[in-house]
Amino acid sequence: MTGPAIVATGVTRTYELDGVSVPALRGVSLTVADGDYLAVVGTSGSGKSTLMHLLGGLDRPTGGTLVIGGRDVTSLSAPELARLRNEVIGFVFQSFHLLPRTTARDNVALPLVYRGVGRRERRARAAALLERVGLGHRIDHRPNQLSGGEQQRVAIARALVTGPSVLLADEPTGNLDSATGEAVLSLLESLHADGVAIVLVTHDSEVAARAHRRIVMRDGLIVDPAPTPGGDR
Ligand SMILES: Nc1ncnc2c1ncn2[C@@H]1O[C@H](COP(=O)(O)OP(=O)(O)OP(=O)(O)O)[C@@H](O)[C@H]1O
Ligand SMILES: [Mg+2]
Repeated sequence: MTGPAIVATGVTRTYELDGVSVPALRGVSLTVADGDYLAVVGTSGSGKSTLMHLLGGLDRPTGGTLVIGGRDVTSLSAPELARLRNEVIGFVFQSFHLLPRTTARDNVALPLVYRGVGRRERRARAAALLERVGLGHRIDHRPNQLSGGEQQRVAIARALVTGPSVLLADEPTGNLDSATGEAVLSLLESLHADGVAIVLVTHDSEVAARAHRRIVMRDGLIVDPAPTPGGDR
């Protein structure tokens, strides 16, 4: 891949709800470089999750330009965007989004199904990732047989199984006690040391302070650092 992993330029996202327009993002410019470690902070409703969904190719902007892995998302069909997402991005949701009646191993292996990886290889790779996040002894447990921190680590393993260059994590420590949150954060930092770019949303100033850079959102805009005349960050 050449160029930065993700480049957003003047990106807007307006939700239409019952005839009312909700401008969740009002013109955001942001570059996620290879090897970045970026924290996104801001009050509730400021547009952080909306931005993360866009950066992850889970949603499309209503205006501006968004380039993921060198591809302009507006030029891609839905299946093309899904393939790009599967190749470049790992996404960790705040509420885990694990399949409830499915073992940790099969949850982690799922993104490989869409890649056409064979079952044996999928199981081996999923087990290796669960080992990496310290859950080698829990591969056959279902989510309701795991603690919150363990479920979060399964979600991280699932995001990593495809070998993404960017990991996007929306409040990865939000539901965890401080010790478990610390374990999840150390895990993210070891991935960063291996070259994975990390973008995380957090309400915790200590977590944000550990990132190498930080953006603050308010009312659908990045207010800190202040935009430069060219709009780049
Ligand atoms: N699907 C949707 N339809 C309509 N409005 C939405 C939708 N999703 C989000 N919004 C609105 O867009 C704004 C930004 O929401 P977003 O979820 O990005 O905020 P956030 O910064 O992640 O907040 P939090 O810290 O509470 O998670 C909010 O005003 C929200 O009500
Ligand atoms: Mg949110």
